Amino acid sequence: MRLAVVGATGAVGTVMLERLRARSFPADEIVAFASARSAGRELDGGLVVQELAEEAVRGFDLAIFSAGAHTSREWAPRFAQAGAAVVDNSSAWRMHDDVPLVVSEVNPDDLGWHDGIVANPNCSTMQMVVALKPLHDAAGIERLVVSTYQSVSGTGMKAIEELRRQARAVLDGEPLGEPQVYAHPIAFNVLPHAGSFADGDDHTDEERKLMAETRKILGDDAIRVSATCVRVPVVFGHSEAVNVQTRRPLEAAEARDLLAAAPGVTVLDDPGSGVYPIATAAAGHDDVFVGRIRRDPSHDSALDLWVVSDNIRKGAATNAVQLAELLVQRDLLHGRAGTKAA
Ligand code: A2P
Repeated sequence: MRLAVVGATGAVGTVMLERLRARSFPADEIVAFASARSAGRELDGGLVVQELAEEAVRGFDLAIFSAGAHTSREWAPRFAQAGAAVVDNSSAWRMHDDVPLVVSEVNPDDLGWHDGIVANPNCSTMQMVVALKPLHDAAGIERLVVSTYQSVSGTGMKAIEELRRQARAVLDGEPLGEPQVYAHPIAFNVLPHAGSFADGDDHTDEERKLMAETRKILGDDAIRVSATCVRVPVVFGHSEAVNVQTRRPLEAAEARDLLAAAPGVTVLDDPGSGVYPIATAAAGHDDVFVGRIRRDPSHDSALDLWVVSDNIRKGAATNAVQLAELLVQRDLLHGRAGTKAA
């Protein structure tokens, strides 16, 4: 079993390598790839970074990518054509009809129809659908109204550095300098602008992903989604206020029981005692944490939830490694264009 990790020096790639080791992934050899800038660099654990090149992509059983959509568009098909199953964390392939978009606890059976590439969902969608799946199965989701509070690590290493640099400058009374990563200073600020605005679109691509990917993963095109994605000065962990309108009314207690029994979910819900999910506590864990579960007093069949998860763990690296594990366990490394799951 030869495994390639592409983007191995990045915020997500680093955690992918760490998760592969921690979960004892059954690889005989792991090869770390990044850009030419990092070629030859030795990573923690002793792997030496290689540059992507035509001859270097041959002979892999699996490749896990987190190197941005541009790199994935160019290189994921080359790995797949050379015989590897690709798990891609970028947005490049997620909405392609012949690429399954999979969350390990939600729609693992969709792995069965991959044809070389499997897509790992966007981080804010990932954690939300883990929490929504048991509610959707029980009561049918009709509409979602979501506001996200997203950490900077979702943007990558440069954004973490920018937040730290700006926060130090503010505390030291120094000038902030021009923002390099975001449109405005992120330190001590809240930006209603997570992702980017395409020409003529009044939603960011992050908000569009949340809408489209949720429908694809839950397999229900009728679900209506309204989203506002916000960047906050948090390093790790996305938080989300989610209003869930269901076809059949659900009591908060029933939703709490369903969520407590759901795989990958931890319910933290005793708000009077200060028990609810928070980003700093979720950081470094794989679970999706759900709390503040309550009836929406403005609607007969709607609930409000607060959903928090480490965007680099379950939101990216952990799910990618879980998908790789499932591909091995289910003997699905070699894509078979089977029948799509319903
Ligand atoms: P590098 O560190 O050499 O730039 P992040 O999301 O934290 O910004 O990380 C992005 C990852 O994608 C890094 O590992 C980065 O490598 C890698 N990467 C960026 N561009 C390319 C490319 N053209 N080919 C391979 N890897 C790339």
